[in-house]
Amino acid sequence: MYVCLCRGITDSQIKKAVDEGKAKCMRSLSVELGIAGDCGRCGKVAKQLLEQWAMPEVAFNNVA
Ligand code: FES
Repeated sequence: MYVCLCRGITDSQIKKAVDEGKAKCMRSLSVELGIAGDCGRCGKVAKQLLEQWAMPEVAFNNVA
């Protein structure tokens, strides 16, 4: 699924960047892939994915 239409970035590319340790926060995700570098509309979804994949314990704690 496309997350960033401006840069043509998919959720799979974000997951790969997280798995490879290249994206641990929104800043590094933006530097690595260019997320939210144009219109910024993808930032909210990208942050949710990042929290889910890079910080699973935080996502788990937010469920309760
Ligand atoms: S949709 Fe990602 S910067 Fe516009």
